[in-house]
Amino acid sequence: MNMKDPINVGLLGCGTVGSGVADYLLGTGGEKAHIRLSRVAVADLSKARELHFEYITNDVNEVLEDPDIHIIVELIGGENPALKYIQRAFENGKSVVTANKAVVSRHMKELLEEARRRSVNFAFEASVAGSIPIIRVLRGLRGEKIRKVTGILNGTSNYVLSRMEEGMDFEHALRSAQLKGFAEAEHLLDTGGFDARDKLAIVASLISNTPVTPNQIYCEGITEVTPIDLDFASKYGTEEGDSGYAVKSLASAELVEEQLFLYVYPALIRKDHPLASVRNERNAVYIEGEYCGPQLVEGLGAGRRPTTSAVVSDLLRVADCLRQGISEDLPQLESNIRIGDIRKVTRRGYVRMNLRHVPGSLSEASRILAQHGFNIEDSLQRRRFRTQVNGETVIPDIVTVEPLSYEIVEEALEALGESDRVLGRPFFLRFES
Ligand code: HSE
Repeated sequence: MNMKDPINVGLLGCGTVGSGVADYLLGTGGEKAHIRLSRVAVADLSKARELHFEYITNDVNEVLEDPDIHIIVELIGGENPALKYIQRAFENGKSVVTANKAVVSRHMKELLEEARRRSVNFAFEASVAGSIPIIRVLRGLRGEKIRKVTGILNGTSNYVLSRMEEGMDFEHALRSAQLKGFAEAEHLLDTGGFDARDKLAIVASLISNTPVTPNQIYCEGITEVTPIDLDFASKYGTEEGDSGYAVKSLASAELVEEQLFLYVYPALIRKDHPLASVRNERNAVYIEGEYCGPQLVEGLGAGRRPTTSAVVSDLLRVADCLRQGISEDLPQLESNIRIGDIRKVTRRGYVRMNLRHVPGSLSEASRILAQHGFNIEDSLQRRRFRTQVNGETVIPDIVTVEPLSYEIVEEALEALGESDRVLGRPFFLRFES
C-alpha cells in the first residue's frame, strides 16, 4: 500500500464521540489523512442526528462484513455487544480503534492476543483520560520501573468536587456536569468511582504488565463527601504554615515489593501537590518512576472533542501501520504480579460523624475510637454546620487519627454507627500519602 492510498473506516455508534469522529473524517481531517468514512452503524435510525451521510445503517453486519473496510472504530460503549463486534472485526482481519473502557478493562489481554494472532492492530487511547495520551506515555516509559501512578480519571467527579469547593451543593454540581455532556447516563458510574475504576484497571495492567480487571480494585465514590469536608480540608494545617488540602477522587496503582495496591477513593491531598490544582472536568495522571522521577500529564479527560482527539490520533497511527504493512508492538500482559489487599494498608485519615448535642456524646465516641486502637490527633466540632434532626441538635465532629488499616477503621465506623450518640453513618476520609 502507498502512503496516500485511502484507508476505509467503519464507525460503530454515532453518539457524542461517534458524531465528533464522523465530523472530523467527513471534514478536511479525513481528506488530509486519506481516511474515508465508509459506513456508520447506529442502533436507532429514527433518532434525530445532525450527521449528513448517506451510508448509515442499523445493521452492524453491513459494516463488520464489508471487505473494503480496513479499520473499525467502535464507539457504542458498554461491554456487550461491543465486545462481540470487536472480536468479529478481528476475525474479519480488521484493525480496531475503541474508546470503550468497559471492554478494554475487562478483556484487554484476550483482545490483544487475538489482535496479535490475526496481525491486526488494537488501539484504545481514548478509553482512559480523554485527550491525554496516557497510553502512549506509559508505553513510552517501557523499561522504567514505575512505582506509582495516581490519577484524576473521572471528569464528572472532579467537576462536582470543584463546584462544591465553591459552595454549590452536590445535586446542582452534578446537574451542571450532566448539562455539559461529560457525565455518564447513570451518574453512579461517575460519582460511585466505577468509571475511574475501569480506567485504572487499564493503566494498572500497562504499568504492571499484568491483566488487572476492575473487580480487583477497591472502590469508593464521592457521594458521601460534603461541604463540611471541603471546608475542613482547605483550612487544615494552615495555622501551622501548611498549604491546606483539597479533596480529590484519586485512582491509584502502587507497586510495593512485587505487589500491586489499587484503589479509587476520595482523599485529602496537600494543596501544593500538582494534582490538587487540577480542577473542573480536567483529568491528570501523576507518574512516579525509579529513573524518570515524577511526571504529570494533564488535560481534558471527557467530552466530545477531547475524546475525538484521542480516537483520531489512534486512527491515524493505525492507518499508517496498515499502509506500511506493519502491526504495532502491542502490550503482552505476560506478568503475574499479585494484587495486594488495600484494606490492610495503613493510612492517616479522619472520621467525620454527626454527634447528638447532649452531654457525653463526644466522650462516648472517643471511647469507641480508643477501643479500636485509634490514636486521636485532633478533634474539632463543626458548630457552623449543625443541623436539626427530629427536633434535636446534631453537630458534626471531625477527628483526625494516626495511621490505621481500613479493616480496623471499618469496624470502628460500624461500632460508632450503632451508638445512640451518633446519627447516621460516620465517614472516613484518608490523607493521600
Ligand atoms: N463520564 C466520564 C467522566 C467521561 O466524567 O470522566 C467518559 O469516560
